[in-house]
Amino acid sequence: MNYFVYFIQAVLHCWIVGLVVSSVSGNQVWPVPYNRVDRRPDVDPFCQALYPFCPTGDRDGRIPVMTDSDIISVFRLQTPVWEFKYGDVMGKFHIMHDAIGFGSVKTGTNFTMEWYELFQLGNCTFPHERAGMSAPFWCNQGAACLYEGIDDIHWKQNGTLEKIGEISGEMFNEMARWVQEDNATGVYYETWTVKSDAGPNATTWFESYDCSQFVHRTYKKLLDMGAELSSQTPTYYTKIYLYSGEPVHLGNDSIFQQSSMKDLATDIKKFYHSFRSHQSVIEMIESLLEAFEKMVLEKTFYFYYNSEYWKLPMKYPYIKIIYEEIPLP
Ligand SMILES: *[C@@H]1O[C@H](CO)[C@@H](O)[C@H](O)[C@H]1NC(C)=O
Ligand SMILES: *[C@@H]1O[C@H](CO)[C@@H](O)[C@H](O)[C@H]1NC(C)=O
Ligand SMILES: *[C@@H]1O[C@H](CO)[C@@H](O)[C@H](O)[C@H]1NC(C)=O
Ligand SMILES: *[C@@H]1O[C@H](CO)[C@@H](O)[C@H](O)[C@H]1NC(C)=O
Ligand SMILES: *[C@@H]1O[C@H](CO)[C@@H](O)[C@H](O)[C@H]1NC(C)=O
Ligand SMILES: *[C@@H]1O[C@H](CO)[C@@H](O)[C@H](O)[C@H]1NC(C)=O
Repeated sequence: MNYFVYFIQAVLHCWIVGLVVSSVSGNQVWPVPYNRVDRRPDVDPFCQALYPFCPTGDRDGRIPVMTDSDIISVFRLQTPVWEFKYGDVMGKFHIMHDAIGFGSVKTGTNFTMEWYELFQLGNCTFPHERAGMSAPFWCNQGAACLYEGIDDIHWKQNGTLEKIGEISGEMFNEMARWVQEDNATGVYYETWTVKSDAGPNATTWFESYDCSQFVHRTYKKLLDMGAELSSQTPTYYTKIYLYSGEPVHLGNDSIFQQSSMKDLATDIKKFYHSFRSHQSVIEMIESLLEAFEKMVLEKTFYFYYNSEYWKLPMKYPYIKIIYEEIPLP
């Protein structure tokens, strides 16, 4: 039952990070490198956000330019996910959302910067069945959002608001250019980290791509530019793991067009049918129970990464959410 609880938590939201050493077996490099695109594709109108993405951010994603000589405080921000709906329950389970704050000494204005799903976690984790379309359909983009203001109470009360350093206005501007490029090329959210086992020497097959990964990439960028950042408190992040033997590459949407792959196509669709989008939490929990059972019984997870499908031969403990310490880069 414990793992089921982990599983439910997994589906209720966000995040993490991993410092990973690549390994190679055959021609395959592990973890599989995350594919960047040349530019962010338009979102299909089928994907409709229940909550608008980045409602108070600049419509064109512009980041304000700071005076080069300005001094900008950098804040580490963390808050329990969905606390506005479920009190601090998610905080107790340590499902946390991470962001970065900036405050200009010169102008007194401050900003919050975060990276999250355009259509919420469920849509980034499971696809839709669409009439007239043979392949599962994903609404899985994520993006960076920068908006004016830091809501101190929101972050501080049940989470973290900690100043971790100062950078120059010039560094901020350089970081802003990097954020825009990162935002244009890393566009698909990936919920799961997939590993060979739960031990310390496990092979990482796939790394997640989520809010805390963005926060870590940004810290790393700032440190590479010469910034000094340090936290007085340990920095913990939530990681959502799947455990499996060596993944088997299956292919892209062409699986669903070729008659020779009909059985595989049917199997993948059947697998994701259990995860179809849900209007109510109860419905979602019901089908998760069903899916989890299937994972334990059939030991198969059809995993989607870089717009391709992989078969994961699942192993105990199957799924885990771990709130683990990952130091600043
Ligand atoms: C997920 O995507 C579906 C299909 O576009 C949409 O109807 C639904 O509102 C989305 N869910 C959320 C929470 O945004
Ligand atoms: C990132 O891309 C999204 C989607 O195009 C856009 O809404 C957002 O403003 C961009 N963010 C930044 C900081 O450029
Ligand atoms: C951000 O600015 C607001 C409005 O001036 C202020 O209330 C808040 O304390 C500031 N937060 C931080 C972390 O500087
Ligand atoms: C913090 O948690 C308490 C207790 O669950 C809750 O009443 C309060 O609204 C939370 N505060 C914020 C800012 O989320
Ligand atoms: C992990 O690898 C190290 C170095 O190869 C080895 O000393 C250690 O025993 C391994 N730990 C486990 C749990 O396999
Ligand atoms: C999908 O895979 C097939 C077969 O490997 C390849 O020919 C095709 O170009 C791929 N399509 C896309 C959109 O990447």
